[in-house]
Amino acid sequence: MYDNGPVFGRNDECWCGSGKKYKKCHLAIDERLDELWQAGEEVLPRDLLKTAEDLEGIRRSAAVNVGALDYVGERIAPGCTTADIDRWVHEYTVEHGAIPAPLDYEGFPKSVCTSVNNVVCHGIPSEDEALHEGDIVNVDCSTILDGYYSDSSRMFCIGEVSAERRRLVEVTRECVEAGLAAIKPWGHVGDIAHAVQEHAEAAGFNVVREFGGHGIGCEFHEDPFVGFVGEAGEGTVLAPGFCFTIEPMVNAGEPGIDMSDANGWTVRTADGSDSAQWEVQLVITNDGYERISW
Ligand code: MF3
Ligand code: CO
Repeated sequence: MYDNGPVFGRNDECWCGSGKKYKKCHLAIDERLDELWQAGEEVLPRDLLKTAEDLEGIRRSAAVNVGALDYVGERIAPGCTTADIDRWVHEYTVEHGAIPAPLDYEGFPKSVCTSVNNVVCHGIPSEDEALHEGDIVNVDCSTILDGYYSDSSRMFCIGEVSAERRRLVEVTRECVEAGLAAIKPWGHVGDIAHAVQEHAEAAGFNVVREFGGHGIGCEFHEDPFVGFVGEAGEGTVLAPGFCFTIEPMVNAGEPGIDMSDANGWTVRTADGSDSAQWEVQLVITNDGYERISW
């Protein structure tokens, strides 16, 4: 097998835990993966493809993730601080028996990322950062429940927001929808990237290159890196069981970023323009995809 993983007999029980015989379950998928790999395509090893049991765990985790974002949505308002958002996410997550994935992740000091206006990603919540009427903020929430990971983020408009900012937020949301619409099982990550990039650039905006989506489920960040610029037909094959995020960061101005903040995390646009991001988590299925977290 292409991934040096185990080889199964036709009548063996399938590796995915379905209880079915291999020939009635993953044999055809495995053969197709093997053929694609032989043909030089980028194919994930089978141990990164999620089983039905993995997906049950990931969905339970995502229910908390989505709930935490809803909880934020009910409370966020002019005058609150990004530290308030951090407290809400922490409180909701822990009350539901889960762990906020960002907390202590590679030294990240808080439970959620809050990225305001020209902050592209990885903003650190702070008591000193109040949200004002007219701000746009991305709240990026990630959850661990029983060892399973979920990850999604939303933009919030604080009070009345300028038409320019509203358009950036809306177009970025449409970029995610365009990416989802480009998914066909056995297609490629590049199909999604191309759709996202086209939609962003048609609106006069630019997609950040250095950060993107990622495989997820049994770890926070699994292979592959999922970029949102490129050509259709390129990159990792969208095989059933591939679980990952679509999370383009879209700048109103130039695509360049500034990573010079002394805190080692906060990423800003290089030109000071605004930036927006929405993130969904999904899994490729035999006939399309299932949205897991949003
Ligand atoms: N949630 C981010 C993502 O979408 C990762 C943030 S890492 C953190 O991949 F440490 F900053 F939380
Ligand atoms: Co993510």
